Amino acid sequence: STTYMGAAVPAGYEDQFSNGIETRPELQDVVIQHFDQITAENIMKSAYIQPRQGDFTFQDADNLVDWALDNNITMHAHALVWHSQMPSWMENYQGDWLTMMDTHVSTVADHFKGRVVSWDVVNEAFNDNNDNGYATYRDTDANSGGHGSPWYQNLGKDYIPEAFKMAHAADSGAELYYNDYNIEDDGAKLASVLRMADELLADDIPIDGIGFQMHVNYDWPSAQAIGTSFAKVVAKGLKVKVTELDIKMNPNGDRNTFTTAMAEEQKLRYQEIIKAYYDNVPANLRGGITVWGVSDADSWIPHFTGHNDWPLLFNSSLEQKPAIEGVANELK
Ligand code: G3I
Repeated sequence: STTYMGAAVPAGYEDQFSNGIETRPELQDVVIQHFDQITAENIMKSAYIQPRQGDFTFQDADNLVDWALDNNITMHAHALVWHSQMPSWMENYQGDWLTMMDTHVSTVADHFKGRVVSWDVVNEAFNDNNDNGYATYRDTDANSGGHGSPWYQNLGKDYIPEAFKMAHAADSGAELYYNDYNIEDDGAKLASVLRMADELLADDIPIDGIGFQMHVNYDWPSAQAIGTSFAKVVAKGLKVKVTELDIKMNPNGDRNTFTTAMAEEQKLRYQEIIKAYYDNVPANLRGGITVWGVSDADSWIPHFTGHNDWPLLFNSSLEQKPAIEGVANELK
């Protein structure tokens, strides 16, 4: 099996923090040269793909998929069911939620059938909070840091197996992932994801693997905790896919410039993470490694933290950073 090396790319008119890849030949060249998989950073999310009920707007995503396939690049598709970047009609839907979810999942998965190798079927179903060693499903906004999930509120936790069954019925050839963040520290949230995985596997739900987003810091979590987290998924016989890797170098806002020392620190940090992946995930369970963006200039992180950051493998001029050597040193 192939261990894909992927990158998220901005695309389509909706991506206004950074111009879409379709207008940027230099970005296209870097992607073609260094990666064999891409993920759309935004345009396959529900707000973009079904902005009004029954009105599926596939054009931007189709253009991106066509470009990828023309260049022998595979597509990982993101994301079918998520509480964020939902269109408001969907968030406030008053009818039958299971039918509404089925229409969305089936229509979208069927549309891209045969052109994408994998899907993030359900994204970020759990809270970060720790309740007796487990994290709870996202329920109310109050318990979820302002991000309760309407999917959970309307359907309970069964929305997760139902979404996997619907995606599999629409595209039985695609690998299907559950995807989440902050599960690489071997903590309460991972424990909940593993418990969910046990339930899905016991019920023969078609899930292929767990996506570790891995929006990590230069100093958190430890490589050891990351390796242990991967190993716990492997022990279930599920694939491990690193879906959104980036490494914050300025999480606290106390670093003003990207120094040579920080570049070296970042190189070693990328290297130890890639090593933890290859050391703990056997070849047949490697879903691949995707970085969440190519150029530092395009990263979501400064918009989110409010600080400068340099989390990716290429600088704002699309030149390689030492970090890319750290990755290359561990690739097998
Ligand atoms: O399309 C609007 C545009 O009309 C408006 O002018 C502009 C300025 O506010 O915003 C544009 O929408 C932004 C969108 O990105 C496209 O650029 C949203 O405000 C912004 O919130 C959105 O951010 C995305 C974020 O998901 C939303 O949650 C990031 O680009 C994207 O990198 C990020 O990706 C997520 C994964 O999907 C899931 N895992 C976490 C990861 C990082 O947050």
